[in-house]
Amino acid sequence: MAFANFVALLCFLTTSIFTVKGEVRRFPDTISFGVATASYQIEGAWNVSDKGESIWDRFTHTTGLIEDGSNADVACDSYHQHKRDVEMLKELGVDYYRFSISWTRILPDGFSNRLSQDGIAYYDTLINDLLAANITPYVTIYHWDHPQCLQDLGGWANPMMVDYYTDFAEVAFEAFGDRVKHWLTFNEPFVICNQWNGMTAKTPSVGMSGIADYLCGHNLLKAHAKTYHLYDDVYRPTQKGRIGWTLSTHHYEAASRSPADREAAERAMQFELGWFGHPVFSSEGDYSQILKDRVNQKSSEQGYPRSRLPEFTSEEVAYLKGTCDFFGLNHYTTYLVRMPTMALKSSKAGFEDDLGVEKFVDPSWPSSAWVKVVPWGFRNLLNWIRNSYNSPEIIVFENGFPDQGDKDDVGRINYYNGYMNALLDAMEDGCNVTAYTAWSLMDNFEWSMGYTKKFGLYHVDFNDPMRTRMPKASTMYYKSILETRTIERD
Ligand SMILES: *[C@@H]1O[C@H](CO)[C@@H](O)[C@H](O)[C@H]1NC(C)=O
Ligand SMILES: *[C@@H]1O[C@H](CO)[C@@H](O)[C@H](O)[C@H]1NC(C)=O
Repeated sequence: MAFANFVALLCFLTTSIFTVKGEVRRFPDTISFGVATASYQIEGAWNVSDKGESIWDRFTHTTGLIEDGSNADVACDSYHQHKRDVEMLKELGVDYYRFSISWTRILPDGFSNRLSQDGIAYYDTLINDLLAANITPYVTIYHWDHPQCLQDLGGWANPMMVDYYTDFAEVAFEAFGDRVKHWLTFNEPFVICNQWNGMTAKTPSVGMSGIADYLCGHNLLKAHAKTYHLYDDVYRPTQKGRIGWTLSTHHYEAASRSPADREAAERAMQFELGWFGHPVFSSEGDYSQILKDRVNQKSSEQGYPRSRLPEFTSEEVAYLKGTCDFFGLNHYTTYLVRMPTMALKSSKAGFEDDLGVEKFVDPSWPSSAWVKVVPWGFRNLLNWIRNSYNSPEIIVFENGFPDQGDKDDVGRINYYNGYMNALLDAMEDGCNVTAYTAWSLMDNFEWSMGYTKKFGLYHVDFNDPMRTRMPKASTMYYKSILETRTIERD
């Protein structure tokens, strides 16, 4: 039996002795609940009024790399159906709604010299409707859809993106900050830099893993810090809000108790969550020593004159440290990790080669698409964050389950039941989680998977010009948790 299985069994046995399946567990009053979406995935109206072209508009229209050949030209048509979205949020009884701003909808040319009044008016109306419904807006400034014209200038590999991004953020603070008190600079920096500039051909990517990804990360970290300080210095005194970002990570569990496998799991955590987490949340700041040492060693073996991971100056290290008012986390699934028996030497730069560990899953874990259902991994991850970053306030900004879109979505209910129990377990362990967000309010355009996988609590009929939304079984399940603030032990 693999060690992880053994531990899982042991946990199961000990929990079974002290707890009763079906027992009602109560969430503390300090936690709030919400749901999330992102502009490109729901809004549609890609060319309405003076809206500019984003990298996802271009990518879906020209590459043929979306699984079902689809795009988000219309998507859920939330640009026209946002009143219905607010109705659903009221039906669900959420405390807050996390949505993102489309850069090209409010800055058609990418730069802040020309604002779209129609674009600003759209978000104004949405924000005002949410506040009237007593739902707090949580705004992601950037959820992957930057202007194509800035991509043509190099995208996140271009250091000028630090300023262009900060200008965009400033427009958002100016336009909406009187009413929006919860800001996220970036959704999932790891995915932005690792997948888009690195590995996969299925996203707008320059395909130079091991180089472009680290360059992207470096500029993105600086853009985040600059925006945090702008808000902190100029806007916070009058607007009195909070700002952070949300980091995505799998949980990586050592496949055995061996020191080598434990080292492999810690390295995987430091490469994914730590890449962006360590410079901002650790007490020493900067990239973690593990990340710096590995990339440096690999770069030198491969004959590069310097590490492919750029360096921060000591001023930059200090400037980056502490630039989040909370720890935002997106999480879906877990991998087991082991150290390869033979160290692989590759002459070609690459993120996975730098990382140099083996990731795999236990075939007995229930799964749907890329998501394996491993609630204890969520609990262990929350504790890893607590232990690594001095017990920060944690806000879970995404957690969810993909399926084919059935209204009787038992798989999703099981997933949420498991993960929300794990959340309570982690809180009992001492993790300070103050909010939990389900991804997503409704079925929407799932990036390179198009409409083949659905994460929604509400069903959307994508064949209907009205994009009619209907509740699923999970809608009622989540609503009842929010109403009673309780959950049954699984
Ligand atoms: C907007 O895009 C749609 C395709 O999604 C196209 O049919 C329509 O003609 C475009 N409208 C304008 C004004 O370009
Ligand atoms: C959790 O975080 C909140 C918000 O920062 C803070 O007010 C509270 O004191 C923290 N709770 C604990 C137990 O640390």
